[in-house]
Amino acid sequence: VFNRNDSIFDDRLVLASREEGRLPRCHLGERGAVGIGSPLVTKRTPALAAMHSWVLPRVYERWVRPMVRVLHGWHGLDEAAERRIAHQLLKLHSGQSVLDVGCGPGNFTRCFAPAVGAEGLVVGFDESATFLATAVGQPTPGPVVYVRGDAQALPFSDETFDAVGCFLALHLIPEPFRALREMLRVLAPGGRIAIMASYKPSGPVAAMVDRAFTTTVGIHSFGRDELTGAFCRSGLVDVQQRVTGLLQFVGARKPG
Ligand SMILES: C[S@@+](CC[C@H](N)C(=O)[O-])C[C@H]1O[C@@H](n2cnc3c(N)ncnc32)[C@H](O)[C@@H]1O
Repeated sequence: VFNRNDSIFDDRLVLASREEGRLPRCHLGERGAVGIGSPLVTKRTPALAAMHSWVLPRVYERWVRPMVRVLHGWHGLDEAAERRIAHQLLKLHSGQSVLDVGCGPGNFTRCFAPAVGAEGLVVGFDESATFLATAVGQPTPGPVVYVRGDAQALPFSDETFDAVGCFLALHLIPEPFRALREMLRVLAPGGRIAIMASYKPSGPVAAMVDRAFTTTVGIHSFGRDELTGAFCRSGLVDVQQRVTGLLQFVGARKPG
């Protein structure tokens, strides 16, 4: 747990899970690091239980993640296209610090590292020990660390990060707007945020399907103005939205 003034590249920051003996203990710069950042979500929906299983992280990047393309409808965005949009929204540059909330196996986390360079830092943040174990096992192309905790109570000081991203995770979080407030709290003035989350088409059928999904599986879907509205009410500027099928990208900048 650190803020931007901490000496994050020294050996004191060899973080390892105190709770889960299975997690590898590793040095920053080698394979990333894992630490317990904040208390974990206690009540798990079926969707969250899957995230904590040992099976999903193993098959996720190769077999499950490519299927998300279907959710983009006729836009048919693959993960490379999603990443391009994330970069367009975050406008990263050398030396910046980035937080990737709900990083899973680190598929977006890793792709931010070249943009911030050796002077920057990318923090992948997730609650699932099994996903993080997969993430730290991947080669990291730059300064990437992983921290374990609950996005609804981020263990970082106010205004720590130059950029915050959250891809395909917000709709799984029990109180997504609490997590969103946390992301905005840790975002530095002038920093940018980018979200990729579910999108709820309008109409009674969509509303019914959404209710059923939320109550049974634990996945929310966000209406057209829900995320952009939350950003605007929080005083963010340059609010942008791009809807692609059943998903949406929302980006904005914190004034300052
Ligand atoms: C579907 S994966 C997305 C992974 C990656 N960002 C991507 O775009 O493929 C969703 C991730 O969100 C994480 N997550 C869900 N609720 C969380 C919470 N409250 N705090 C932190 N991470 C959470 C899950 O553990 C899971 O790894």
